[in-house]
Amino acid sequence: MAYKINDDLIEKIHESSDLVDIVSRYVQLKKSSNNYVGLCPFHNEKTPSFTVSESKQLFHCFGCGEGGDLITFIMKIENLSFVEAVKFLADLIGISIEEGSNEFDNKIKNEKEKIYKINKEAARFFYYNLRNTSAALKYLKDRNIEKKVINKFGLGYALDGWDSIYNYLREKGYSEEDIEKSGLIGKRKNNTGYYDKFRNRIMYPIIDIKDRVIGFGGRVLDNKTPKYLNSKDTLVFSKGNNLYGLNLIKKNSNREKIILVEGYMDVISLFNYGINYAVASLGTAFTQNQAKLLKRYAKQVYICFDSDNAGINATNKAFNILRKEGIKPKAIILPKNYDPDDFIKKNGLDEFKKLEDYALNYVDYRIYINKQKYELTNYEDKIKFTKEVAKTLRELKSPIEKDVYIDKVSMDTGISKEAIRREVLDKDSKSVTTIYKDKYINGKNRYNKNDIMPITTVLESAHLTAEKTLIKLMIENRDHYNIIKKDVKEDDFLNHENNILARIIYNEYDNNPCFMKLELKNIRNRLKNENNIDMKYIYEIINMDTKFLSEDKNKLIMDLINTIKYSKLKVKRKEIIRKIQEIEAKKDRDEGDVNEFKILCLKLTELDKELKSRI
Ligand code: CTP
Ligand code: MN
Repeated sequence: MAYKINDDLIEKIHESSDLVDIVSRYVQLKKSSNNYVGLCPFHNEKTPSFTVSESKQLFHCFGCGEGGDLITFIMKIENLSFVEAVKFLADLIGISIEEGSNEFDNKIKNEKEKIYKINKEAARFFYYNLRNTSAALKYLKDRNIEKKVINKFGLGYALDGWDSIYNYLREKGYSEEDIEKSGLIGKRKNNTGYYDKFRNRIMYPIIDIKDRVIGFGGRVLDNKTPKYLNSKDTLVFSKGNNLYGLNLIKKNSNREKIILVEGYMDVISLFNYGINYAVASLGTAFTQNQAKLLKRYAKQVYICFDSDNAGINATNKAFNILRKEGIKPKAIILPKNYDPDDFIKKNGLDEFKKLEDYALNYVDYRIYINKQKYELTNYEDKIKFTKEVAKTLRELKSPIEKDVYIDKVSMDTGISKEAIRREVLDKDSKSVTTIYKDKYINGKNRYNKNDIMPITTVLESAHLTAEKTLIKLMIENRDHYNIIKKDVKEDDFLNHENNILARIIYNEYDNNPCFMKLELKNIRNRLKNENNIDMKYIYEIINMDTKFLSEDKNKLIMDLINTIKYSKLKVKRKEIIRKIQEIEAKKDRDEGDVNEFKILCLKLTELDKELKSRI
């Protein structure tokens, strides 16, 4: 029996399908207690927070908040409307649907069908005109477009008159109202009839994935404006929801990759030279819905917009839109003042393929663009460049990725990794290091590893950097050491490696009054007796580039000492709060507890005062 799209059908779909089954077609699910979990298909994640409840037949992602039932899932993942998703599922389960069952639906459906027919007739007419208009043929020939490509894209020509498409379609029996609904003609201002919207233009039919002509783009043959004219949005055409060329992608491609370009001509020209996987947005800025479409048809998306400023801005926007869909796009970089059409026409397929191979991911693209913008030989620009790139690095979730790029930016600029890391991390996150609780609380050194109880705590990266920089400055110059040791004891270095280095440095200077600086080889030698240390970290400090640190070393040292003191106060504050909470949690408190409680609260108040005064 055939169903109408109504509550009965929806119920039937829910009855005959299982959400876990359906989701498993897209997501690898694992059973976990009462639910199933997997990596969310709606955002980019590395640990599974996408949960499907078998009993409730609902899904929810704790990472991005997406959630719903079977139909919502299909709507989202297949980028379909509600009705389309119902049809999709009905089809999947094997329930047939009675189409167009109510009067309103029927009317809309008929109107749409009529527009498709009108558009198809019009495309034929334009195609016929093209073959008989030498100026139009010459235009395409001058642009190197081959006959078979003209046919493939169904290119045409709109005659240079006010009523040719009007007359043609009227003769075919279509009413004025219907033709107007297709957007091919418009009403004259004083209501004296209709006129052709597209005149003396090369016509590009826009075809959807079901091979229906949904609208047109038209280009002038000369320099007149507007250069391009597009169909208005109609019942069957909405610019932000379609992509030019997607119909051919569906036929030709293995869904591995798609290149997103700006213009009709870019799609056609790339095709002409052998790239049959390009699409263009349609005379509007690239939209979220278009990103959803791309996601359905390609694993890898390349953005290849014009290399002018507008193109760069559009690329940045497209990166963001695509990244929101969980796509990791790459940008193909064209030489200055080129679009894909110009490039491939001038340099050919192989050169274009090379550019494709060198396409840049998001961070590399941001670095590339900022390098164009700033002159890295000039200090002010170098700082601006690094700050700009740090902003991008801050968006990265993976610490490893962050680290790799911090290295890279450091190499590009000569700015120390430390400074860049600080710029990247200070603003968003804190870095975790191990400090030794025993040592910190008792204030004495205990280097027998068995005695030390390491706790992992969060030292602010500013604190870590301050420690490291002080160490480096001490190694470089005894004067620095003399200033620093007045305020900072060996034990004040909380990070394990910094602490060991501080001990060695203090010891070397104290035992060798003639040393004006420390030799790295002495330090290295003494490190040999230490175990359980991260040598990579130590070398990072030793090799730290201090060229870019402030000229006024005394002021710098005072700033760094303040950073450490401030951060230590915060660690102390945490410890007090922990103790207060411990007492509060006790069931029966004795007098000792009450006294301690009071003392702790007093200490906390004092600490807070001090912290405030240091801000
Ligand atoms: N566009 C538009 N209306 C305009 C200009 C442009 O709709 N007045 C859209 C068209 O889809 C066009 C795209 O923006 O294809 C890119 O525009 P542009 O870079 O100016 O044109 P090209 O693609 O380079 O076109 P051509 O090579 O034919 O000059
Ligand atoms: Mn162009």
